Amino acid sequence: MQHLLDPTDLSIQEIQQLLDLALDIINNRQAYSHVCDGKKLATLFYEPSTRTRLSFTAAMMELGGNVLGFSDARTSSVSKGETVADTVRVVSSFADIIAMRHFKEGAPHVAAQYSRIPIINAGDGGHAHPTQTLTDLLSIMRELGHLDNLTIGLCGDLKYGRTVHSLIKAMKRYEGTKFVLISPEELRLPDYIKNILPSNYIEVNTLEEAMPMLDVLYMTRVQQERFANQDDYERLKDSFILDAKKMELAPKHMIVLHPLPRVNEINIDVDDDPRAAYFRQVENGKFVRMALIYTLLKKANEPNKCQRVVSPTSHKCTNERCITRTEPVYKQSYIDSEGVERCAYCDHCLRKD
Ligand code: CP
Repeated sequence: MQHLLDPTDLSIQEIQQLLDLALDIINNRQAYSHVCDGKKLATLFYEPSTRTRLSFTAAMMELGGNVLGFSDARTSSVSKGETVADTVRVVSSFADIIAMRHFKEGAPHVAAQYSRIPIINAGDGGHAHPTQTLTDLLSIMRELGHLDNLTIGLCGDLKYGRTVHSLIKAMKRYEGTKFVLISPEELRLPDYIKNILPSNYIEVNTLEEAMPMLDVLYMTRVQQERFANQDDYERLKDSFILDAKKMELAPKHMIVLHPLPRVNEINIDVDDDPRAAYFRQVENGKFVRMALIYTLLKKANEPNKCQRVVSPTSHKCTNERCITRTEPVYKQSYIDSEGVERCAYCDHCLRKD
C-alpha cells in the first residue's frame, strides 16, 4: 500500500492530481459524499491538534466514512508503554487508513514499517508535515493561480518548523521558486533542509526588507513546546511580528499564509486585509485531505513505491528527538547528495556507536 510520510513521497504529477481532485471535490461536493462508505479512518494523535485532526475527521465524514482514534495518547495503552509499532499493528485490524501525529521525529516512518494499512504523517515533532504542505499548495493555487515562479518568504521558527521543512521540499521542485529566509539566528533551518535549498535563496534580518520581494509570506509560530530552555523561548518568541503597517510594504498580490495556530506573530490588524489568506487556508486543508484519503484508499492494494534507497545501519541518530532513540527499530539510513549518511526516520546525521 502507499503511505504519505514526506512530501517527497509524491511526484509533482501526483501532487497536481491531488490538487485537481481537491478542486473537483470543492465544485462537486455531493458527488464525493459516499465514495468512502464503509471505510474507517483512525486518527492517532500523540500531540495536540485542532486543524489537522478535525479536518481529517471532517474530511472522512464528508466522504461517507467513519472515524475512530484518540486525541490524547494518555487515554490509550501508550500510557502503559505500548510502542508505535505495536499500536499500528493493532489499529490495522480496526481501520482502513491511519493519520498519525507524534511528538517524536520519524514515528510515522516506524508506523509504516509495521502497518497493514496506509499511514499518513499528520506531523512528527519538528520534522515534517506533508498534509499541511498539500494544504499550502492548494491555497497558493487558489489564491494566485500557479505554483511556479514564486518568491516565498519563510518567517519565524525555521529550525523546528515542520511545515516549513515540508513546504521547502515540495516547492523547490517547481520552476523559478525562490526562498527568502527570515528567522532569528538560533532558529535557522537545520542542515538537512538547508542542504536541499535551491542555491538562489537569500536570508534577510527584517520583515521590512523581505516584504517588497514576496509573492507569498509564510509566517510561523515560535513553538514553545520545542524549547528545552523556556528563557530561550521568551527571548525569541516575538522576534518577528507582522502588522498592518508592514503589510503596506508588500505587493498588492502577495498573500499571507500561516499553518496556525498563531500566537503573537501576526497582529490581528492584519486579519481584515484581503491578502491575509490563513483562515481560507484552513478550509483548503479539509478538501485536500479528502482528496488524499480517497486516493490512498483507492491505491491501498498497490505496492508501496520507495522514493529513497535505504540500507540497514548500526549507527546511532544524533537527533535526541528521533523515534529511534526511544523505540526499538530496524535502524535504516540513506546517503544524501553530499555523501552524508542520514537517519531514514528523521533525516539527521548518524554517528558510530
Ligand atoms: N496546522 C496545524 O498543524 O494545526 P494543528 O496543530 O492545530 O493541527
